[in-house]
Amino acid sequence: MFTTKTEQQLTTEYLSQGYIIRPVADIEALNWIRQQFVDIVSEALGINNDIDPEVLLNQIHERVPVTELNNFRLKIIRGFNAIDGFREHYYQVARPFLDTIVGNELAMQLRVNLSIQFPHDDSSLLPVHADTWAGDSPYEVVVWLPIVNCYGTKAMYLLPPAKAAELNQNFSKSAGQNSEELYHAISNDVKWLNVNYGEVLVFDQALPHGNRINSESETRWSMNCRFKGVFTPYGDKKLGEFFEPIILRAATQTGMSYKLPGI
Ligand SMILES: [Fe+2]
Repeated sequence: MFTTKTEQQLTTEYLSQGYIIRPVADIEALNWIRQQFVDIVSEALGINNDIDPEVLLNQIHERVPVTELNNFRLKIIRGFNAIDGFREHYYQVARPFLDTIVGNELAMQLRVNLSIQFPHDDSSLLPVHADTWAGDSPYEVVVWLPIVNCYGTKAMYLLPPAKAAELNQNFSKSAGQNSEELYHAISNDVKWLNVNYGEVLVFDQALPHGNRINSESETRWSMNCRFKGVFTPYGDKKLGEFFEPIILRAATQTGMSYKLPGI
């Protein structure tokens, strides 16, 4: 492989663990993103936005009733997806890691997604799954970006590739009757991914992953967004309706518009 040493390290790490966690490539972009959240959230709550972001976000369960959580979450998602440049900032945070892991002609999900996990709340859990089981292309990666420190059960878990391969081999035996039984079959093998504010996680969504009840005392806020090589095979999520190209190189552009001379 004609890759640099840094690229080799990142590649080996991603292939053996199924993920990488790194300090963000652009801290100003991340701080800008978090400020957008503070603005949108404080407007939604009708409070002043000169509040400490960490306190506001980590303790949001003290201000929003759990019955309102999903509406609140959708409101925030609509809010930040409507901001010019939001997705570009999101991309900048992970750009060099995507270049190495995915490539430099990229398609990005049209809408960035958000997960808000209140302490001790079981109403918005993500049972163990691989996105590919529901029709995603195995060529997609997820860029998972927290805007608060995520640790312990406030974080997410992932089943590493070697263990996932074992599970695949005797899936019908290990999987049990439902996702809870499946989780218990793999619970000793999953890796909990601590990701602090200032760091970004890129993971392989074809590996089983999910979360459990957040038993920490703070609310989790994390965004997620899929990226893939523009010319890699698509699953149920198509180019144009779910993904759009964000980087196309000059030779690709001339190639795509090329016509043989008429005769
Ligand atoms: Fe997923």
